[in-house]
Amino acid sequence: MNAPRFLQLHRPDDAALAAEAAAGLLQPAAAVSPKFLYDALGSRLFDAITELDEYYPTRTEAGIFAAHGEAIAAAVQAATGPAPILVDVGAGDGTKAARLFARLQPRRYVAVDISVDYLRGALARLGREHPGIEMLGLGLDFSAGLALPGGVADEPALVFYPGSSIGNFAPAAARQLIADMRRTSCGGAVLLGVDLVKASSRLEAAYDDALGVTAAFNLNLLRRLNTLLGADFEPRQWQHVALFDAAQSRIEMHLQARVALQVRWAGGERRFEAGERIHTENSYKWTTAGFAALLAEAGFGTQCHWTDPAGDFAVFVAC
Ligand code: AVI
Repeated sequence: MNAPRFLQLHRPDDAALAAEAAAGLLQPAAAVSPKFLYDALGSRLFDAITELDEYYPTRTEAGIFAAHGEAIAAAVQAATGPAPILVDVGAGDGTKAARLFARLQPRRYVAVDISVDYLRGALARLGREHPGIEMLGLGLDFSAGLALPGGVADEPALVFYPGSSIGNFAPAAARQLIADMRRTSCGGAVLLGVDLVKASSRLEAAYDDALGVTAAFNLNLLRRLNTLLGADFEPRQWQHVALFDAAQSRIEMHLQARVALQVRWAGGERRFEAGERIHTENSYKWTTAGFAALLAEAGFGTQCHWTDPAGDFAVFVAC
């Protein structure tokens, strides 16, 4: 077995992150990037969300792969050829990509995440389980653009971006990221999971579950801001809000002040009136036709997709 290799290309800069968060809090309509949701506890809470009854995307996507895996792999290999390089964007523990290994037989698995520290354990395990696949972990902040170093994927590759994470980008940014993925695939293919528009009652339940796990995930952002900024947010004074905005076709998550309050942090402060909100995340929902058009705008000529029988979620392959 080859030992996994790691390359950390992104240098986290806490001072820059703190300045970005503070600037967001001081906007007239306060808003902070959803990336602040994912500290160690936030990532564990997100894993718990994927197991909730109300949060259908994860299990529905897995069902599409189980039902149509052979056809999906055939569509990919028509573009990449056999034994492709597999580039997993936002890989986490690599579980989703590993489910493709048996059918795709990749010769190299490139796991991309913000920090190689998230990838070490997973790649060590996957390397033991799949000794024939070369394992490479890349620490990269792809939200600012996806560009891999030379030699990593210089031949037709599959770029994999499951879980409807593309929905966390506004349409113009999603188009740009998909165009980056197309370039990265080097004439190969991209495979994306996309959450589809449905009744707002189901969408809002998926982002405001009965157990309050999504509320805890959202409120945890205040703890993160306290640590990052030295702020004095009191999570009990805030309430989780998730609403579907049909005009923009997106779920919006907010934190809403329960009472009028003042928040202070090193170098700044802000008063929030009761009911005032901090916008923390958007999750765009697509129609299959709308997403097909986005792929075409990003430069893809050929594409196909599969959905679950209820039409809740889609898996797209484009090349
Ligand atoms: C990571 N991303 C695809 C999730 C979503 O559905 O937009 C994040 C999430 N936020 C609340 N629940 C899940």
